[in-house]
Amino acid sequence: MAATSVADEIFKEFKEHSISEFFRKNSQMLGYAGKVRSLTTIIHEYVTNGLDACEEAGILPDLNVELKEIGENKYSIKVSDNGPGIPQTHVGKALASVLSGTKFHRYMQQRGQQGIGAAGCTLFAKITTGKPIHVRSSTGKQAFECDITIDIKSNKPLLTNVLKIDADFRGVEITGEFGEVKYEQSDHGVLEYLRRTALSNPHCSIRLLAPDGQESIFPRSAAEMPKRPRQIKPHPLGINTNDLVEFAHKSTVSRKVSSFMIDTFSRVTQNKIDELRTAAPDVNFDKNPAELTWDEAEKIVKAIKQIKWIAPDLDSMSTIGEKQIEAAIKNILSPTFLSVVERKPRVFRGGIPFVVEAGIAYGGSAGKSSGQFVEGNILRFGNKVPLLFDSSVCAITEAVKNIDWKRYAIQKFDEEPVSVMVNVSSVYIPYSGVGKQAISQEDEIIEEIKLAVQEAGRNLQRYLHGMKSRSIQETRYKTIMRYVDQLSADLSEITGEKKEAIEVKLKALIEGKYKKLFEAPPALDESDDKGVQKVDSESDD
Ligand SMILES: Nc1ncnc2c1ncn2[C@@H]1O[C@H](COP(=O)(O)OP(=O)(O)O)[C@@H](O)[C@H]1O
Ligand SMILES: [Mg+2]
Repeated sequence: MAATSVADEIFKEFKEHSISEFFRKNSQMLGYAGKVRSLTTIIHEYVTNGLDACEEAGILPDLNVELKEIGENKYSIKVSDNGPGIPQTHVGKALASVLSGTKFHRYMQQRGQQGIGAAGCTLFAKITTGKPIHVRSSTGKQAFECDITIDIKSNKPLLTNVLKIDADFRGVEITGEFGEVKYEQSDHGVLEYLRRTALSNPHCSIRLLAPDGQESIFPRSAAEMPKRPRQIKPHPLGINTNDLVEFAHKSTVSRKVSSFMIDTFSRVTQNKIDELRTAAPDVNFDKNPAELTWDEAEKIVKAIKQIKWIAPDLDSMSTIGEKQIEAAIKNILSPTFLSVVERKPRVFRGGIPFVVEAGIAYGGSAGKSSGQFVEGNILRFGNKVPLLFDSSVCAITEAVKNIDWKRYAIQKFDEEPVSVMVNVSSVYIPYSGVGKQAISQEDEIIEEIKLAVQEAGRNLQRYLHGMKSRSIQETRYKTIMRYVDQLSADLSEITGEKKEAIEVKLKALIEGKYKKLFEAPPALDESDDKGVQKVDSESDD
């Protein structure tokens, strides 16, 4: 009998695991860490999917979120949208197979990217309550409902109770029971998440029915759809060796490395291929892309960095828009001052385009004056999605905190009624973790955020200085007016003139000197319906 080695013994236990098995054990990587955060994560996944689907179909989104407490740390959650729906043929994979979706393979700005979100929710329902989720979906013409869960061992969807139903609605409605979650009215909770979603998606209307029965409605504040992002080809400067090898090996149409590169990437022309040939002389650009080796790809990537490229196509980005941000901030924060800045697109890591939008709101329920939200004064967004967690490692926090706020007439940033909103848009946002709650601290991104916020800050400073000098004048005016009565009496005694006459003249004199106080406040734009002041921003590039 052959002796079994120790290795044989140990490797009896050797097993392969599915991706859902991995996430079952590491659900914190998907944002399921802490009860409050887990609930926000579920809502975030469903809401972003609804928004992506509506945007793609050109539909103004109506989102409805209903939460019911059904046990200790156990909630029933219903989220519905009015989007295009999911066809019955794809519903299983879409909602119960990790890494499946319509977005991963695209180079286009959308909220979802990896095909993890929806299946992650299904998985979380299964591991915390053992229950499937219930789905109703309608394209407006055909509709069905079913229960879906995920077979963790195989990462395969399991559908039961599939039924055709009346198509008297359109979109997707998902209902599920989730454990290990908790509803809380904090700045990490669902209400705040939806409030910020409304802020960055003014074309959307959102309703929340909270577990305590309280209904919150965030009405649509802009009736136009945001500009549709275009799918673009990746820019060569954003490509690493691994990408290049993968793209090359998957390429089916091109017969040569040269034509593959022209077809696959933006800005690559025959001339650029010639330049690359010179920069990487031992790479054969005429060979079959399927045979491109790692070594050759590495040389090409190095050569790419050595030659000059036209900047990436910037049409791929969809921003919120200056007007839309203004409308949304007025709607939600009712500030007394507001300045919004949209910067020009820039690139980071040499080739990935991004755009920063920033707004500063002062007064109203901006900053902490709302009382309720402790971290309310930096509102962070990545591709219009609110980022509520991990703020300390985020590029936005880093940029905003490092601004010398005293220069903008804010003495203590954390204690004044000021909110700073920043949205970073890009085809590829470098999130600092799978939970996608913080943007990693790339130098170019931090710098650009700073410039945007400072630009808006200069308008804030002008406004606050105006306010301050006005208040000093007001105090002086009131102080002098207090003496008018006594002074008129004294003068009347000395001169023999009537006290009332002296009083009228003195008042006219003083009012003349302080006449500015009786005009509209220095910086208030009266044409504005809500009395929100807006200073036109001047760019400093
Ligand atoms: N509400 C919805 N309406 C239409 N399609 C949806 C909806 N929710 C999910 N999907 C589809 O399911 C896929 C998987 O969703 P998800 O796991 O969240 O990954 P991602 O959003 O990263 O693509 C999406 O790519 C989309 O095709
Ligand atoms: Mg998603």
